[in-house]
Amino acid sequence: MKTLPTKNVVIIGATSAIAKQVAKKYADSNNQLYLVARNQEQLNIIAQDCQVRTDQGVNTFIADLTDRTQINKMFEDIQDKLSSIDVLLVAHGTLPDQKNCEQDVDQTLRAIAENGLSVINILTIAANILEKQKSGNIAVISSVAGMRGRQSNYVYGCAKSMVSTFLQGLRNRLHKSGVYVTDIKPGFVDTPMTAHIEKKGALWASSEQVGQIIVESIQKNKQTVYAPFFWRYIMLIITSVPEFIFKKLSL
Ligand SMILES: NC(=O)c1ccc[n+]([C@@H]2O[C@H](COP(=O)([O-])OP(=O)(O)OC[C@H]3O[C@@H](n4cnc5c(N)ncnc54)[C@H](OP(=O)(O)O)[C@@H]3O)[C@@H](O)[C@H]2O)c1
Repeated sequence: MKTLPTKNVVIIGATSAIAKQVAKKYADSNNQLYLVARNQEQLNIIAQDCQVRTDQGVNTFIADLTDRTQINKMFEDIQDKLSSIDVLLVAHGTLPDQKNCEQDVDQTLRAIAENGLSVINILTIAANILEKQKSGNIAVISSVAGMRGRQSNYVYGCAKSMVSTFLQGLRNRLHKSGVYVTDIKPGFVDTPMTAHIEKKGALWASSEQVGQIIVESIQKNKQTVYAPFFWRYIMLIITSVPEFIFKKLSL
């Protein structure tokens, strides 16, 4: 059986249920990992599990990803520890309470910082490293929620939309340097983020399923990926509904 060359895989937001699955899969195929999260205890558990699966190193770094100074330190450490970044996945995020955000500017801006600005901070630095390196894959988990503003979650949606638009431009810029940029757009995924939502029906995916889609999409240098695939068609319908009808729906 043909074995793939070992890669240096950086996973930011590694304690996310989806990111954990991605980390395990890269560890299972014997890659070196660099895992970043803010919860030390949880991160240690994930790193130990990955270390059992790979012969390569598993590095960890603790950071609150809304803190610019900590992001700078993280990249310094990554460049000290890894000879290259072959895969970079940005996975962290929060699901704000839309109703609370409507009444509280701080909560709204925090949600946009956590889901949008922090990702753009990370990507701005990572892009220059990978551009110079002239290789590698950048993948980011955005969301189908970023494809149309809905009254029930437009604060989260606008942050994700910001990320997707940034990724489009970044993909065009990095194309000539041999760097691939993948925008992962999940629909409903059963993770701690959605623990408060009743999960019924075929639209819900598991973190394992979405993790598998992410790894395969990176390997195939995909551009935009719906996770699972059927969200492409759901979003085609949702984005086609005329605004005069859409605003009357309680979506
Ligand atoms: N679940 C869904 O239905 C769904 C749908 C579409 C897109 N997504 C996106 O998928 C990604 C992964 O989410 P998930 O579903 O796997 O949820 P999750 O298990 O709740 O993971 C979210 C992760 O983000 C981390 N995080 C949040 N803010 C952070 C910060 N400032 N610094 C460091 N870490 C931070 C959290 O860390 P702590 O544990 O320390 O809080 C947590 O590990 C997110 O970008 C989310 O928006 C999820």
